[in-house]
Amino acid sequence: MTLCQQMTISANRVTLRWLIESDIPALFEMHSHPDVMRYWSSPPMTDMAEARRLFERVQDDYRTGEALTLGIERNEDAVLIGTCTLFNFHQISRRAEIGYALRRAFWGQGYMHEALGAFVRYAFETLDLNRLEADIDPRNVASAKALERLGFQREGLLRERWIVNGEVSDTALYGLLRREWSQRRDA
Ligand SMILES: CC(C)(COP(=O)(O)OP(=O)(O)OC[C@H]1O[C@@H](n2cnc3c(N)ncnc32)[C@H](O)[C@@H]1OP(=O)(O)O)[C@@H](O)C(=O)NCCC(=O)NCCS
Repeated sequence: MTLCQQMTISANRVTLRWLIESDIPALFEMHSHPDVMRYWSSPPMTDMAEARRLFERVQDDYRTGEALTLGIERNEDAVLIGTCTLFNFHQISRRAEIGYALRRAFWGQGYMHEALGAFVRYAFETLDLNRLEADIDPRNVASAKALERLGFQREGLLRERWIVNGEVSDTALYGLLRREWSQRRDA
């Protein structure tokens, strides 16, 4: 899948855009926050160098098309408030996984709902995907709500799929089909 084209995705209060070097401190702030990382698939960052490595991997992914991570920028003040990612593309099946996070200060204001809505639309309409998947911790209520608000269905429970910092956790697997999303949009 070719993703190597600089692009932005507009929503009402936020814009999704490529990450740039000056985003590294905000990335670090988000990825080192214990609340944000509580159910993440890796432990909180403790060093800015880890955020730089993440940034560099995202830049590599822009070149290779392996994954697409976009920053979520708030329009009113151009602050980077979070990220969303498409990864694990399966070209023939036209599916990918979706991941997302907001900096703690920006929770509870509907920003991710807007950002993910626009990102999902891009995935289905521009990238022509047929199915999106999300792998979340079943205890992550805020994340489940964000998915369900967009029409994702909980499809199953995968037991003890993760061990992060010695803590074993399950996966709740969510899925959204393009045809379901189109029906909701047209309803
Ligand atoms: C998952 C996560 C992004 C959800 O953030 P969020 O702010 O709750 O999500 P939304 O942007 O959809 O906002 C919805 C909340 O804002 C409220 N809200 C306020 N104004 C709103 C608006 N204009 N539109 C929609 N919701 C609005 C909603 O009522 C809702 O609050 P509630 O859940 O208490 O009812 C956040 O909890 C997070 O970053 N978690 C850590 C990372 C993570 O676990 N990611 C998932 C694993 S991939």
